[in-house]
Amino acid sequence: MKNSTYIAGFSFYVPDTILTNQDLEKKVDTNDEWIVSRTGIRQRHIVNSQACSDLAYEACLKTLERSSLMPGDITHIITATFTPDAYVPNAACIIMEKLGIRGIPALDVNAACTGFIYGIELARGLCVLWPGSKVLLVASEVVTSRINFKDRSTAVLFGDGAGACVISGESFDHNASAGYIRDVLLKADGSLGGLLTVKGGGSAYPLVPGQKADDDFFVQMEGREVFKHAVRSMKNISQDILERNNIVAEDIDLFIPHQANIRIIESLAKSMLISNDKIFVNVQEYGNTSAASVPIALADAWEKGRVKPGYLVLLVAFGGGFTWGAALIQF
Ligand code: UT7
Repeated sequence: MKNSTYIAGFSFYVPDTILTNQDLEKKVDTNDEWIVSRTGIRQRHIVNSQACSDLAYEACLKTLERSSLMPGDITHIITATFTPDAYVPNAACIIMEKLGIRGIPALDVNAACTGFIYGIELARGLCVLWPGSKVLLVASEVVTSRINFKDRSTAVLFGDGAGACVISGESFDHNASAGYIRDVLLKADGSLGGLLTVKGGGSAYPLVPGQKADDDFFVQMEGREVFKHAVRSMKNISQDILERNNIVAEDIDLFIPHQANIRIIESLAKSMLISNDKIFVNVQEYGNTSAASVPIALADAWEKGRVKPGYLVLLVAFGGGFTWGAALIQF
């Protein structure tokens, strides 16, 4: 069975409105010094009235252009999100309609901040079944739609945005930005799910007509605990994927971790002995955009010329569930 899969057309889109730490100081009991020293975040982009599919649409248009594909060439759409426009229809169906695509499978995957890496593996599976596939994978989040701006422990952390790419069983020979997906590794542990939640509105915490949304409708997190698990899990899965590919951290040319907190990224890189010049960081500009964080960072790195032909790139993410995953891409 042919099982080579390729990835191309990296793009991202963030809404125009910028929310700085100084803006947040006016909304909640916080300050720029605390936010920068504890997280590295200086600003984040937030929607005005756009939904998940609007951000995704913009990223997808750029991805199609960068991969020299027409909407009609796409065979599947996968959206990674925990903030879709609606429960039904799913975000992928709304995105396909905006792109003018009909009659192909369209599905959402929710693995919180790890959603993009989960999406890569699902797309890879489709490409093994149907090597001619051209899977449009977009991670899009309006995290601020689930943020309680009265809760300072979460309000300062998140931003909105989308990142997209195309995955195929056929190589993108004509495309300078194309990579080969060398390996993907995914994990989850539901026993730790209570440490990072958005419970309200689910069937276990149903909406009651006329009832006001309470704290349960927004992101709630045991920050310190999540921090520890994030570092440990991303370190372990990174080492596992390196080991099973018979390589060491030194062989990685660019390390693109989930952009949640600069201190998490630095602890992770230090524990893995990856030098600073090989780590890509943009959390200072965008905050934590959940599933969109890794594809935004990947596209941003590519646009800045940090992803060069011949490079081996390691992506790693961690999020609610808990879920975590890593992907190795050979450019
Ligand atoms: O994307 C999914 C994965 N998510 C993550 O990876 C996030 C993981 N966690 C973190 O990044 C960090 O734990 C946080 C940034 C959320 C918090 O940083 P921390 O160093 O763990 O701070 P803390 O929660 O232990 O709080 C320290 C102090 C507390 O005050 P006291 O009890 O020491 O007096 C908090 O009340 O900082 C206070 N605090 C704040 N102060 C000013 C908490 N949030 C704020 C704030 N501004 N926004």
